[in-house]
Amino acid sequence: MAYYHRLGKIPPKRHTQFRQPDGSLYKEELVSSKGFSGIYSNLYHIYNPNSVRSIGKPIPYDWKVADQHGLNQTHLKTSGVETTGEDYLSARRMLMKNNDVMMGICAPKQRKMDSYFKNADGDELIYIHDGKGVLYSQFGKLEVGKGDYVVIPRTTIYRFEFDEEGPLRLLIIESHGPIETVKRYRNEVGQLLEHSPYCERDIRPPHELHIEEEKGEYLVQIKKQGMLHQYTYDHSPLDIVGWDGYLYPYALSIYDFEPITGRIHQPPPVHQTFQAWGFVICSFVPRLFDYHPLAIPAPYNHSNIDSDEVLYYAEGEFMSRKGIDRGSFTIHMGGLPHGPHPGTVEKSIGAKSTEEYAVMLDTFRPLQITTDALEFVDKGYPMSWTED
Ligand SMILES: [Fe+2]
Repeated sequence: MAYYHRLGKIPPKRHTQFRQPDGSLYKEELVSSKGFSGIYSNLYHIYNPNSVRSIGKPIPYDWKVADQHGLNQTHLKTSGVETTGEDYLSARRMLMKNNDVMMGICAPKQRKMDSYFKNADGDELIYIHDGKGVLYSQFGKLEVGKGDYVVIPRTTIYRFEFDEEGPLRLLIIESHGPIETVKRYRNEVGQLLEHSPYCERDIRPPHELHIEEEKGEYLVQIKKQGMLHQYTYDHSPLDIVGWDGYLYPYALSIYDFEPITGRIHQPPPVHQTFQAWGFVICSFVPRLFDYHPLAIPAPYNHSNIDSDEVLYYAEGEFMSRKGIDRGSFTIHMGGLPHGPHPGTVEKSIGAKSTEEYAVMLDTFRPLQITTDALEFVDKGYPMSWTED
Protein backbone atom coordinates (compact mmCIF):
# COMPACT_ATOMS: atom_id res chain seq x y z
CA MET A 1 0.00 0.00 0.00
CA ALA A 2 1.52 3.27 -1.07
CA TYR A 3 -0.58 5.75 -3.05
CA TYR A 4 -2.83 5.88 -6.11
CA HIS A 5 -0.93 5.10 -9.29
CA ARG A 6 -1.85 4.34 -12.91
CA LEU A 7 -0.04 3.19 -16.02
CA GLY A 8 -1.10 2.64 -19.63
CA LYS A 9 -4.59 2.88 -21.10
CA ILE A 10 -7.70 2.62 -18.92
CA PRO A 11 -11.32 3.57 -19.65
CA PRO A 12 -12.74 6.75 -18.06
CA LYS A 13 -15.19 4.70 -15.95
CA ARG A 14 -14.49 1.34 -14.35
CA HIS A 15 -16.61 -1.65 -15.36
CA THR A 16 -17.55 -0.07 -18.70
CA GLN A 17 -16.89 -1.06 -22.32
CA PHE A 18 -13.22 -0.70 -23.21
CA ARG A 19 -12.40 -2.00 -26.69
CA GLN A 20 -9.26 -3.28 -28.38
CA PRO A 21 -8.30 -2.06 -31.91
CA ASP A 22 -10.08 -5.11 -33.39
CA GLY A 23 -13.33 -4.17 -31.64
CA SER A 24 -13.23 -6.89 -28.97
CA LEU A 25 -13.38 -5.98 -25.31
CA TYR A 26 -10.35 -5.79 -23.07
CA LYS A 27 -10.77 -8.17 -20.11
CA GLU A 28 -11.07 -6.30 -16.85
CA GLU A 29 -9.70 -7.90 -13.66
CA LEU A 30 -10.24 -6.43 -10.21
CA VAL A 31 -7.42 -7.47 -7.85
CA SER A 32 -8.76 -6.70 -4.38
CA SER A 33 -7.69 -7.33 -0.80
CA LYS A 34 -9.69 -7.96 2.40
CA GLY A 35 -12.61 -9.02 0.24
CA PHE A 36 -13.79 -5.74 -1.27
CA SER A 37 -12.76 -3.62 1.73
CA GLY A 38 -8.97 -3.29 1.31
CA ILE A 39 -6.73 -1.74 -1.31
CA TYR A 40 -7.25 -2.84 -4.92
CA SER A 41 -6.29 -2.26 -8.52
CA ASN A 42 -8.15 -2.72 -11.80
CA LEU A 43 -6.18 -4.38 -14.60
CA TYR A 44 -7.06 -4.55 -18.31
CA HIS A 45 -5.95 -7.72 -20.13
CA ILE A 46 -5.71 -8.38 -23.84
CA TYR A 47 -6.60 -12.03 -23.19
CA ASN A 48 -8.85 -13.83 -20.74
CA PRO A 49 -6.86 -14.28 -17.49
CA ASN A 50 -8.62 -17.64 -16.95
CA SER A 51 -7.66 -19.34 -20.22
CA VAL A 52 -5.61 -22.18 -18.78
CA ARG A 53 -4.07 -24.57 -21.30
CA SER A 54 -2.91 -27.24 -18.82
CA ILE A 55 -2.42 -27.87 -15.12
CA GLY A 56 0.64 -29.92 -14.19
CA LYS A 57 1.37 -31.97 -11.09
CA PRO A 58 2.03 -29.70 -8.08
CA ILE A 59 5.52 -29.71 -6.59
CA PRO A 60 5.87 -29.84 -2.76
CA TYR A 61 7.28 -26.51 -1.60
CA ASP A 62 7.50 -26.08 2.16
CA TRP A 63 9.98 -25.91 5.01
CA LYS A 64 9.89 -28.11 8.10
CA VAL A 65 10.54 -26.67 11.54
CA ALA A 66 13.49 -27.99 13.54
CA ASP A 67 11.42 -28.80 16.61
CA GLN A 68 14.38 -29.94 18.73
CA HIS A 69 16.20 -26.57 18.56
CA GLY A 70 14.66 -25.40 21.83
CA LEU A 71 15.09 -22.13 23.68
CA ASN A 72 18.45 -20.82 22.52
CA GLN A 73 19.72 -17.44 21.52
CA THR A 74 20.61 -18.26 17.94
CA HIS A 75 23.15 -17.08 15.43
CA LEU A 76 22.85 -18.35 11.87
CA LYS A 77 26.08 -17.80 10.00
CA THR A 78 25.16 -17.73 6.34
CA SER A 79 27.93 -15.42 5.15
CA GLY A 80 29.92 -18.25 3.53
CA VAL A 81 27.09 -19.22 1.21
CA GLU A 82 27.64 -18.21 -2.41
CA THR A 83 24.67 -19.91 -3.98
CA THR A 84 21.67 -21.64 -2.46
CA GLY A 85 20.31 -23.40 -5.53
CA GLU A 86 19.64 -23.35 -9.21
CA ASP A 87 16.83 -20.87 -9.79
CA TYR A 88 14.80 -18.22 -7.97
CA LEU A 89 12.32 -20.75 -6.55
CA SER A 90 14.52 -23.78 -5.87
CA ALA A 91 17.16 -21.50 -4.31
CA ARG A 92 14.80 -20.18 -1.63
CA ARG A 93 15.97 -21.40 1.76
CA MET A 94 13.53 -20.25 4.38
CA LEU A 95 15.34 -20.36 7.73
CA MET A 96 12.65 -19.44 10.27
CA LYS A 97 8.88 -19.34 10.36
CA ASN A 98 5.69 -19.06 12.36
CA ASN A 99 2.08 -18.76 11.24
CA ASP A 100 2.51 -15.07 10.33
CA VAL A 101 5.85 -14.93 8.55
CA MET A 102 8.76 -16.85 7.01
CA MET A 103 12.24 -15.47 6.46
CA GLY A 104 15.16 -16.85 4.52
CA ILE A 105 17.79 -16.32 1.89
CA CYS A 106 17.97 -16.87 -1.84
CA ALA A 107 21.15 -16.78 -3.91
CA PRO A 108 20.26 -18.45 -7.22
CA LYS A 109 22.81 -19.48 -9.86
CA GLN A 110 20.36 -18.72 -12.67
CA ARG A 111 19.87 -14.97 -12.89
CA LYS A 112 16.89 -14.82 -15.23
CA MET A 113 13.68 -16.64 -14.39
CA ASP A 114 12.35 -18.77 -17.24
CA SER A 115 8.81 -19.00 -15.86
CA TYR A 116 6.51 -16.68 -13.96
CA PHE A 117 5.80 -16.86 -10.23
CA LYS A 118 2.75 -16.00 -8.21
CA ASN A 119 2.74 -16.21 -4.43
CA ALA A 120 -0.87 -16.89 -3.46
CA ASP A 121 0.01 -17.47 0.22
CA GLY A 122 1.32 -14.07 1.17
CA ASP A 123 2.89 -10.73 0.40
CA GLU A 124 6.60 -10.82 -0.24
CA LEU A 125 9.27 -8.43 0.92
CA ILE A 126 12.51 -9.03 -0.96
CA TYR A 127 15.53 -7.19 0.43
CA ILE A 128 18.24 -7.03 -2.22
CA HIS A 129 21.42 -7.50 -0.27
CA ASP A 130 23.52 -7.92 -3.40
CA GLY A 131 22.44 -7.68 -7.00
CA LYS A 132 20.73 -5.54 -9.56
CA GLY A 133 17.99 -6.28 -12.04
CA VAL A 134 14.47 -5.73 -13.26
CA LEU A 135 11.18 -6.92 -11.84
CA TYR A 136 8.75 -7.57 -14.69
CA SER A 137 5.21 -7.89 -13.41
CA GLN A 138 1.65 -7.38 -14.56
CA PHE A 139 2.01 -3.84 -13.18
CA GLY A 140 5.01 -3.00 -15.38
CA LYS A 141 8.74 -2.70 -15.17
CA LEU A 142 10.63 -1.82 -12.00
CA GLU A 143 14.42 -1.52 -11.80
CA VAL A 144 15.75 -2.76 -8.47
CA GLY A 145 19.19 -2.85 -6.88
CA LYS A 146 21.28 -3.26 -3.77
CA GLY A 147 19.57 -2.00 -0.64
CA ASP A 148 16.05 -2.08 -2.07
CA TYR A 149 13.12 -3.48 -0.21
CA VAL A 150 10.81 -4.77 -2.94
CA VAL A 151 7.22 -5.22 -1.74
CA ILE A 152 5.25 -7.64 -3.93
CA PRO A 153 1.57 -8.03 -3.01
CA ARG A 154 0.21 -11.58 -3.06
CA THR A 155 -1.02 -12.92 -6.42
CA THR A 156 1.14 -10.49 -8.41
CA ILE A 157 2.50 -12.50 -11.34
CA TYR A 158 6.13 -11.64 -11.92
CA ARG A 159 9.58 -12.68 -12.98
CA PHE A 160 12.97 -11.22 -12.07
CA GLU A 161 15.84 -10.73 -14.46
CA PHE A 162 18.99 -10.04 -12.49
CA ASP A 163 22.28 -8.89 -14.00
CA GLU A 164 24.75 -11.70 -14.69
CA GLU A 165 27.70 -9.81 -13.17
CA GLY A 166 28.49 -9.59 -9.46
CA PRO A 167 27.04 -11.40 -6.46
CA LEU A 168 23.31 -11.97 -6.06
CA ARG A 169 21.88 -12.41 -2.59
CA LEU A 170 18.31 -11.83 -1.52
CA LEU A 171 16.66 -11.80 1.87
CA ILE A 172 13.12 -13.14 1.45
CA ILE A 173 10.24 -12.43 3.80
CA GLU A 174 6.81 -13.92 3.18
CA SER A 175 3.95 -12.47 5.17
CA HIS A 176 0.54 -13.98 5.81
CA GLY A 177 -0.90 -10.46 6.26
CA PRO A 178 -0.42 -7.44 4.00
CA ILE A 179 2.92 -5.62 4.22
CA GLU A 180 2.13 -1.95 4.79
CA THR A 181 3.77 1.34 5.62
CA VAL A 182 3.68 2.19 9.33
CA LYS A 183 0.27 3.40 10.48
CA ARG A 184 1.54 5.97 13.00
CA TYR A 185 3.45 7.67 10.17
CA ARG A 186 0.29 8.15 8.08
CA ASN A 187 -2.46 10.75 8.31
CA GLU A 188 -6.16 9.89 8.08
CA VAL A 189 -6.08 9.68 4.28
CA GLY A 190 -2.88 7.64 4.14
CA GLN A 191 -0.29 10.31 3.34
CA LEU A 192 3.05 9.85 5.07
CA LEU A 193 3.51 12.49 7.77
CA GLU A 194 6.38 14.90 8.34
CA HIS A 195 7.96 12.72 11.05
CA SER A 196 7.97 9.59 8.88
CA PRO A 197 11.53 8.36 8.13
CA TYR A 198 10.58 8.14 4.45
CA CYS A 199 7.90 9.66 2.24
CA GLU A 200 6.09 9.03 -1.04
CA ARG A 201 9.03 10.39 -3.07
CA ASP A 202 11.12 7.45 -1.82
CA ILE A 203 8.54 4.86 -2.94
CA ARG A 204 9.19 3.65 -6.49
CA PRO A 205 6.27 1.98 -8.29
CA PRO A 206 6.60 0.35 -11.73
CA HIS A 207 7.21 3.23 -14.13
CA GLU A 208 6.32 1.73 -17.52
CA LEU A 209 4.25 -1.18 -18.73
CA HIS A 210 5.88 -4.27 -20.16
CA ILE A 211 3.33 -5.84 -22.50
CA GLU A 212 3.81 -9.35 -23.90
CA GLU A 213 1.23 -9.90 -26.65
CA GLU A 214 2.51 -13.08 -28.34
CA LYS A 215 0.45 -16.22 -27.77
CA GLY A 216 2.14 -19.49 -26.79
CA GLU A 217 2.72 -21.55 -23.66
CA TYR A 218 3.43 -19.61 -20.51
CA LEU A 219 4.08 -21.40 -17.22
CA VAL A 220 3.04 -19.65 -14.00
CA GLN A 221 4.16 -21.41 -10.82
CA ILE A 222 1.70 -20.61 -8.05
CA LYS A 223 2.72 -21.03 -4.41
CA LYS A 224 -0.25 -22.06 -2.30
CA GLN A 225 -0.40 -24.12 0.90
CA GLY A 226 2.95 -25.85 0.71
CA MET A 227 2.83 -26.56 -3.03
CA LEU A 228 4.01 -24.98 -6.25
CA HIS A 229 1.08 -25.41 -8.62
CA GLN A 230 1.95 -25.61 -12.31
CA TYR A 231 -0.41 -23.56 -14.48
CA THR A 232 0.24 -23.15 -18.18
CA TYR A 233 -1.69 -20.44 -20.01
CA ASP A 234 -2.05 -19.85 -23.75
CA HIS A 235 -0.78 -16.28 -23.43
CA SER A 236 1.60 -14.31 -21.29
CA PRO A 237 0.22 -13.11 -17.93
CA LEU A 238 1.95 -9.82 -18.73
CA ASP A 239 -0.75 -8.89 -21.26
CA ILE A 240 -1.91 -5.79 -19.36
CA VAL A 241 -2.48 -2.60 -21.39
CA GLY A 242 -3.31 -0.46 -18.36
CA TRP A 243 -4.15 -0.48 -14.68
CA ASP A 244 -4.88 1.85 -11.81
CA GLY A 245 -5.23 1.59 -8.05
CA TYR A 246 -3.38 1.29 -4.78
CA LEU A 247 -2.27 -2.36 -5.03
CA TYR A 248 1.02 -2.87 -6.91
CA PRO A 249 4.63 -3.83 -6.25
CA TYR A 250 7.05 -1.09 -5.30
CA ALA A 251 10.60 -0.54 -4.11
CA LEU A 252 11.93 1.49 -1.19
CA SER A 253 15.69 1.75 -0.74
CA ILE A 254 17.20 1.34 2.72
CA TYR A 255 19.53 4.17 1.59
CA ASP A 256 16.50 6.50 1.51
CA PHE A 257 15.49 5.69 5.10
CA GLU A 258 16.20 8.77 7.26
CA PRO A 259 17.16 7.71 10.79
CA ILE A 260 15.65 9.26 13.90
CA THR A 261 18.26 9.96 16.59
CA GLY A 262 18.16 11.37 20.12
CA ARG A 263 20.16 12.53 23.15
CA ILE A 264 19.81 9.08 24.72
CA HIS A 265 19.40 5.62 23.18
CA GLN A 266 16.37 5.36 20.88
CA PRO A 267 14.42 2.08 20.94
CA PRO A 268 13.93 -0.08 17.81
CA PRO A 269 10.46 1.34 16.94
CA VAL A 270 12.17 4.51 15.63
CA HIS A 271 13.70 2.27 12.97
CA GLN A 272 10.36 0.75 11.93
CA THR A 273 9.89 0.63 8.17
CA PHE A 274 6.91 -1.71 7.57
CA GLN A 275 4.11 -3.32 9.53
CA ALA A 276 2.21 -6.54 8.93
CA TRP A 277 0.08 -8.98 10.91
CA GLY A 278 2.15 -10.31 13.80
CA PHE A 279 5.45 -8.63 13.00
CA VAL A 280 7.30 -5.44 12.11
CA ILE A 281 10.31 -4.72 9.90
CA CYS A 282 12.90 -2.15 11.00
CA SER A 283 15.95 -0.71 9.22
CA PHE A 284 19.19 0.12 11.04
CA VAL A 285 21.13 2.61 8.95
CA PRO A 286 24.19 4.86 9.37
CA ARG A 287 23.37 7.53 11.93
CA LEU A 288 24.79 9.81 14.58
CA PHE A 289 24.93 8.24 18.01
CA ASP A 290 23.20 9.63 21.10
CA TYR A 291 24.50 13.05 22.16
CA HIS A 292 23.71 13.34 25.89
CA PRO A 293 27.09 13.99 27.60
CA LEU A 294 26.74 10.72 29.55
CA ALA A 295 25.04 8.73 26.78
CA ILE A 296 25.81 5.04 26.19
CA PRO A 297 25.37 4.35 22.48
CA ALA A 298 25.30 0.55 22.89
CA PRO A 299 21.84 -0.82 23.71
CA TYR A 300 20.89 -1.92 27.22
CA ASN A 301 20.04 -5.49 28.17
CA HIS A 302 16.53 -6.21 27.09
CA SER A 303 13.94 -8.81 28.07
CA ASN A 304 11.59 -9.25 25.16
CA ILE A 305 8.75 -10.91 27.00
CA ASP A 306 6.37 -11.27 24.07
CA SER A 307 8.39 -11.19 20.87
CA ASP A 308 11.21 -12.88 19.02
CA GLU A 309 13.75 -10.48 17.56
CA VAL A 310 15.69 -11.24 14.39
CA LEU A 311 18.48 -9.10 13.01
CA TYR A 312 19.96 -9.64 9.58
CA TYR A 313 23.33 -7.93 9.36
CA ALA A 314 23.69 -6.30 5.96
CA GLU A 315 26.71 -3.99 6.01
CA GLY A 316 29.28 -2.45 8.36
CA GLU A 317 30.46 -3.23 11.86
CA PHE A 318 27.71 -3.92 14.38
CA MET A 319 29.00 -2.25 17.53
CA SER A 320 27.11 -4.32 20.12
CA ARG A 321 27.97 -7.78 18.73
CA LYS A 322 31.10 -9.89 18.35
CA GLY A 323 31.59 -12.70 15.84
CA ILE A 324 28.82 -11.47 13.58
CA ASP A 325 29.45 -11.27 9.84
CA ARG A 326 27.75 -9.71 6.87
CA GLY A 327 24.88 -12.15 6.16
CA SER A 328 24.52 -13.31 9.77
CA PHE A 329 21.12 -13.66 11.41
CA THR A 330 20.69 -13.41 15.17
CA ILE A 331 17.44 -14.59 16.74
CA HIS A 332 16.93 -13.37 20.29
CA MET A 333 14.07 -15.38 21.60
CA GLY A 334 11.36 -14.13 23.89
CA GLY A 335 11.81 -15.51 27.40
CA LEU A 336 15.53 -14.76 27.64
CA PRO A 337 17.22 -11.37 28.06
CA HIS A 338 19.73 -10.28 25.46
CA GLY A 339 22.13 -7.39 25.22
CA PRO A 340 25.51 -6.16 24.08
CA HIS A 341 28.47 -8.51 24.17
CA PRO A 342 30.96 -8.03 27.03
CA GLY A 343 33.29 -5.10 26.38
CA THR A 344 31.10 -3.47 23.75
CA VAL A 345 29.26 -1.14 26.18
CA GLU A 346 32.41 0.63 27.45
CA LYS A 347 33.82 0.63 23.93
CA SER A 348 30.75 2.40 22.57
CA ILE A 349 31.05 5.39 24.95
CA GLY A 350 32.23 8.47 23.09
CA ALA A 351 31.59 6.95 19.66
CA LYS A 352 29.98 9.56 17.42
CA SER A 353 28.34 7.53 14.67
CA THR A 354 27.82 4.11 13.13
CA GLU A 355 27.99 2.92 9.55
CA GLU A 356 25.90 -0.23 10.12
CA TYR A 357 23.02 -1.49 7.99
CA ALA A 358 20.72 -4.20 9.27
CA VAL A 359 17.18 -5.43 8.69
CA MET A 360 15.19 -6.37 11.76
CA LEU A 361 12.17 -8.66 11.95
CA ASP A 362 10.35 -8.63 15.29
CA THR A 363 7.56 -11.16 15.59
CA PHE A 364 4.85 -11.25 18.25
CA ARG A 365 4.41 -15.00 18.06
CA PRO A 366 7.34 -17.38 18.56
CA LEU A 367 9.48 -18.26 15.58
CA GLN A 368 11.02 -21.63 14.95
CA ILE A 369 14.06 -22.25 12.84
CA THR A 370 13.65 -24.70 9.97
CA THR A 371 15.69 -27.81 9.25
CA ASP A 372 17.31 -25.80 6.43
CA ALA A 373 18.77 -23.49 9.08
CA LEU A 374 20.48 -26.20 11.15
CA GLU A 375 23.71 -26.24 9.14
CA PHE A 376 24.17 -22.50 9.80
CA VAL A 377 23.74 -22.60 13.60
CA ASP A 378 26.71 -21.13 15.51
CA LYS A 379 26.76 -23.52 18.47
CA GLY A 380 28.83 -21.20 20.67
CA TYR A 381 26.43 -18.24 20.45
CA PRO A 382 24.19 -18.98 23.49
CA MET A 383 27.30 -18.80 25.73
CA SER A 384 28.90 -15.85 23.97
CA TRP A 385 27.97 -13.31 26.69
CA THR A 386 29.86 -15.26 29.38
CA GLU A 387 33.21 -13.76 30.33
CA ASP A 388 35.99 -16.20 31.30
FE1 LIG B 1 15.82 -6.40 21.84
